[in-house]
Amino acid sequence: MGAIKMPYPAIIAHRGACGYLPEHTLPAVKLAHAFDAHYIEQDVVLTSDDVPIVLHDVTLELTTNVATLFPKRHRGDGLFYAIDFTLEEIKALNAHERTDSLGNTVFPGRYSGTGVEFKVPTLAEEIETVDRLNQASGKRAGVYIELKRPEFHEQEGVDIYQAVLDVLTTFDRLGENADTVIQCFDPETLKRFAHEGIFKGPLVQLVHTESIANWRGNFEAMHTLSGLKEVAKYAHGIGPDVNLLENKSGSPSEMVVAAKKLGLFLHPYTLRADSESIPGVNFEDLHEKLFKKLKVDGAFTDFADQTRELLIHMGKIS
Ligand code: G3P
Ligand code: CA
Repeated sequence: MGAIKMPYPAIIAHRGACGYLPEHTLPAVKLAHAFDAHYIEQDVVLTSDDVPIVLHDVTLELTTNVATLFPKRHRGDGLFYAIDFTLEEIKALNAHERTDSLGNTVFPGRYSGTGVEFKVPTLAEEIETVDRLNQASGKRAGVYIELKRPEFHEQEGVDIYQAVLDVLTTFDRLGENADTVIQCFDPETLKRFAHEGIFKGPLVQLVHTESIANWRGNFEAMHTLSGLKEVAKYAHGIGPDVNLLENKSGSPSEMVVAAKKLGLFLHPYTLRADSESIPGVNFEDLHEKLFKKLKVDGAFTDFADQTRELLIHMGKIS
């Protein structure tokens, strides 16, 4: 794939400014924009009426009050799938800080309030918000969209690729520049983007630490030069877990060396000031490791403001 000019190093606000406000809500998007993130991330799933919404999980119970409002609408596994709810029903929910399956807050120091101001946005609402904030501020924040679980959506008989493409078409974000980025763990979805060629912006293959049942990606292969040679045929960059960047000896992993050799940009995930992304490495040291030692091209961060400050301190951006 040809090279695409992007912000360097790129600060990608992971789920908006989710270190401070409930993930993927419009207030979190607005705060990320105020933090001067280069990109604001959207994870996307579909509703039962085929509307792309911004939600990290294909289920609703960990980030909304769905179990209170619709107590009987779970499947046999006890989970409340977004694909079983209309947009109107999802709009009735209030979003909140992420919890685990027992209802305990995952990041205890983060925003503790609930309220009607936190809703699950549609992808269209998020893009419109970013576009209007760009217009009002003169900034040029981009959107960095992840299609969640395409295999799951296929099993449900819906086409998340087409639904996302329709929204991008409406907002004239078909990637003529690098202001819109598409990311996915599923290689087949990225190949479809590449082969159909309607979207022309950067395509990012996300790389997990290991392969996962019912997901199509062979992630172990992507940790190697030969695997990344295949990825380089359809993607412009990779988004690996930060734990994949170094060998046990501390030298750059085969994946990092191969990505640079093949011209694939590196946008690892996820930097968190309130929890160690790599065991034993604090937030500041992680930035030194990523941006000075390994020279990655950008990163997903829950704290775009603090990442920006550290990059300025390191002389990487002004
Ligand atoms: O998309 C990059 C990173 O966000 C992948 O992990 O699970 O937070 O979507 P996840
Ligand atoms: Ca994501």
